[in-house]
Amino acid sequence: MNSSTSKKSGVFFTFEGGEGSGKSVQSRLLHDALQQRFPHLPVVLTREPGGSDGAESIRHLLTTGSQDRWMPFSEFLLFYAARYDHWCRTIAPTLRDGGIVLCDRFFDSSRIYQGEGLGIPKTFFDSIHQMMLEMIPEDSFRPHRTYVLEIDPHIGLDRSKQRQRSRPEKEDRFEQHQIDFHKRVLQGYRRLVSEDPERCLQLSGTNSIDEIHQQILNDALQVIQKVLA
Ligand code: TYD
Repeated sequence: MNSSTSKKSGVFFTFEGGEGSGKSVQSRLLHDALQQRFPHLPVVLTREPGGSDGAESIRHLLTTGSQDRWMPFSEFLLFYAARYDHWCRTIAPTLRDGGIVLCDRFFDSSRIYQGEGLGIPKTFFDSIHQMMLEMIPEDSFRPHRTYVLEIDPHIGLDRSKQRQRSRPEKEDRFEQHQIDFHKRVLQGYRRLVSEDPERCLQLSGTNSIDEIHQQILNDALQVIQKVLA
C-alpha cells in the first residue's frame, strides 16, 4: 500500500517517560507555544492510548480496572488496534496537511511497557510494526523528535497517585504494577535514548517545569525549521 504520493510532510513530535514524569504538562505547554508561533499551521495535541473515537474507547479498556485485567499479549494487541486507528484518523491527516503533531506517548511506550515491562518479545513488535506499515500509505511512523522525560519511579508514582485522586475516574491500571516494573520501564527508556540518540532527547523530569519547557521549545523550533525548510 506504500505510495510516493502521500509522504509525510508535517512535523511529528512524541513525548515519552514513566509514570508522573511530567510529559503531559510539557506536551500541553509546547502545544500552546507552537500554536502562538505558527497560527497558520494546524498544531494538534493528541495522546496514546487514545486520540481518535475508537482509540479512546480502547483507552478506557486499557487504563481502568485491575492490573491483571488483560493477558499481556491481549494488552499488546489492544494498544496496536488503538494505534492504527489513531494514526489513520488523527496523526497522518494532520501530517499530510503539513501540520505539527504532538503525541503524548507513541510506539516507544509499547516497546517499553509491554516489551521491557511485560516481556512481550521484540520480534512481535517488529512484525506488527511491519504489518501496520503495509496497511498505510506513509513509509514511516518515525517521529522527527521524541522527548524522553526521566524521573525516579518512586517520585513519579507519588506524583501520579496524587493526580489520580483528583480525577473522577481512576486511570491507574499501570500505576498498580510493582516498583520493579517501573524500574524496568526506566531502564528501557535509558536504553532507547542511548540506542537512538538522533531522534531522542532526554530531559530530567525533576528540573522546573519552565526550565524543561524552554529546553524543549528551543529544540522543537530547530527541528521544525529543519523539517519544514
Ligand atoms: P498516559 O495517559 O500517558 O498515562 P500517564 O499520564 O499516567 O503516564 O498512558 C496511560 C498508560 O498506558 C500509562 O501508564 C502507560 C501505558 N501505555 C502502555 O503500557 N503502552 C503503550 O503503548 C501506551 C501508549 C501506553
